[in-house]
Amino acid sequence: MKLLHVDTSPKGAMSSSRALSHFFVDQLRLRLPALAVDYLDLAAETLPPMTEVFTSATYTPEDERTPEMRAVLATSDALCRRLLAADALLFAMPMHNWTMPAAFKAFVDAIVRGGLTYVATDDGRYIGTLGDKKVLFVTTRGVDLRPGTPFAAMDALTPALRAAFGFIGVADPQFVDAQPLQFARALERDMALERARRELTGIADDWAGHDRPQHTPLPRANGTGISAALGSVAGGCAA
Ligand SMILES: Cc1cc2nc3c(=O)[nH]c(=O)nc-3n(C[C@H](O)[C@H](O)[C@H](O)COP(=O)(O)O)c2cc1C
Repeated sequence: MKLLHVDTSPKGAMSSSRALSHFFVDQLRLRLPALAVDYLDLAAETLPPMTEVFTSATYTPEDERTPEMRAVLATSDALCRRLLAADALLFAMPMHNWTMPAAFKAFVDAIVRGGLTYVATDDGRYIGTLGDKKVLFVTTRGVDLRPGTPFAAMDALTPALRAAFGFIGVADPQFVDAQPLQFARALERDMALERARRELTGIADDWAGHDRPQHTPLPRANGTGISAALGSVAGGCAA
């Protein structure tokens, strides 16, 4: 399996979403030792802002683009190639002001590309090209936005991710949302991180299931064994 792993948080080693995404990759690698990972850190590799040339270049047929247009699209072209080359996509990010961090929005703006991640048909339909991939979003939130909580209606992150990636063919992405973290008591935060690690362990089992001929049970994130040791890394970070 080839995995594209994207981290977004600006908080470096103190980031919960990074700790959880790395926990997931470790779990997956335990099950699939041949796992190949292409890693992208959107806090380190800042994407160029949308420009006037980009907006016209992206809607200009490839054979009519000027050298300047090609140069401006080069980063976006390369990101689309990385997405298309992967079997599975892992995107980790904090919620910022109820939606995705600006760095991830810039990434979305770069990867929604006609002729690459979606195609327009002659009869006016749009067809995404990423439909064959497993996709997991790991999000971290300061407050609890689960259904039934006072902040539930403020979740503009989940629908925005579903819409953008649905358009490029990802019909049924998986979500692990760790919440509440920053604005919660220590016990609630620890429980939220443990819940997230348990869900991630289950998804790693699921993703690896098809590739492993004989299923060998692996330690789960239940407070003992390997996953607990890995989990203590995530549990020890600031929310
Ligand atoms: C600029 C900024 C805006 C934030 N906005 C929200 C928000 O709208 N809702 C929320 O629940 N948490 C919000 N948070 C809290 C983060 O989502 C939370 O601390 C998360 O765990 C951070 O993940 P990270 O450690 O991977 O960066 C915000 C944090 C920052 C720094």
